[in-house]
Amino acid sequence: MTRGRTAPGSGHDDARARQLARRFAGVFGHAPDGVWRAPGRVNLIGEHTDYNDGFVLPFALDRSAMVAVRLRRPEEPGPDGGAAGHDVVDLASTWTPDGTGLSRARLRVADLVPGAVAGWGAYPAGVVHVLSGPDGVRVPGFELLLDSTVPVGAGLSSSHAVEVATIVALDDLLALGLDRPAMARLTQRAENEFVGAPTGIMDQSASLRGRAGAALFLDCRSLEAELVPLPLAEHGLTVLVVDTRVAHSHADGGYAARRAACERGAAALGVGSLRDVPRDTDLGALDEETARRVRHVLTENDRVLETVERLRAGDVTGIGELLAASHASLRDDYEVSCPELDLAVDTARGAGAVGARMTGGGFGGSAIALVPADAAERIAATVAEAFARAGHRAPDAFLVAPGDGAGRVL
Ligand code: GLA
Repeated sequence: MTRGRTAPGSGHDDARARQLARRFAGVFGHAPDGVWRAPGRVNLIGEHTDYNDGFVLPFALDRSAMVAVRLRRPEEPGPDGGAAGHDVVDLASTWTPDGTGLSRARLRVADLVPGAVAGWGAYPAGVVHVLSGPDGVRVPGFELLLDSTVPVGAGLSSSHAVEVATIVALDDLLALGLDRPAMARLTQRAENEFVGAPTGIMDQSASLRGRAGAALFLDCRSLEAELVPLPLAEHGLTVLVVDTRVAHSHADGGYAARRAACERGAAALGVGSLRDVPRDTDLGALDEETARRVRHVLTENDRVLETVERLRAGDVTGIGELLAASHASLRDDYEVSCPELDLAVDTARGAGAVGARMTGGGFGGSAIALVPADAAERIAATVAEAFARAGHRAPDAFLVAPGDGAGRVL
């Protein structure tokens, strides 16, 4: 098992930022204007509720994307020596799928249309696209070097972390004065309109608004948020992430199909969104499958509210049964789990976890387990053994702690 990184803003992030700035100078030939970071997230509870105007309770991770950025100066020649180079965006990344080398992309702000950029470059490009849209601002050319410690494809929002790091950097450098909810909405549009994944607003919000030691209780309709203290260490607990290493993608059909089912359900029940379905509504008029999808969303919203109540009352251990109920609902009613996630959850609980559930969109990715700190190592080993016995690929397991939201490091 690998341990979570030290908390953001700590010496570790400062050293990482200085190293990224040095690497930037090596790649682009001059120093960056600054370095910004944005964390990935895990969702404690409140799954597939965000795009139904519901409630979520994620926390920002102590693992993050970092970008070193420098705006092109108007007097500088373009990268090809011509004066017309001022809207050229030069992207470089140490964050490549195989974790080696440096990947590069070059594009012009004026040419950014959905589909124009593939791979990791679509995340920063998508942000430029939404910022410089019809009612937007003029984004000049810039150079950007990215690195990330958020595992890719693990359902921990590695892509949103890149988008959020890019928007906080550009907001700062261009003095846009965007507040955090506005940045969340813009990065959601980057993901929906440019990257092509029809995701909700939870991940960006956690990355932008999280705080060390707390979970973010977010109303996804109003974007009103409350930081709910999560004093895990005081209760002898920690959060173990089990990355099943089953790749998932929200640009694939399953996620969109669940969204569509919710919209269908809301329309059939005569409401604009499932948030507005009264508690005692009879779902019998819906077809069986749609009824189960809707029931998941309604019960999950209730579980988030109950989790927040228990945390406010200092009952951290008491949230375990709600995590378990959330997983069962995602597995049986919403059908977004998979055998590896179920095995991770069941094995962790059997080995002494206080609670466990899949986290994020599902169809692969990660599970989280709330575990006694002194049993974490043993529980991770037990899950790994169960995976080996079942013939699954070895999972990756590590501890995480709630970290601070995005900001400038250097
Ligand atoms: C993904 C999406 C989020 C949310 C979750 C499910 O992580 O990016 O917006 O819908 O799935 O809760």
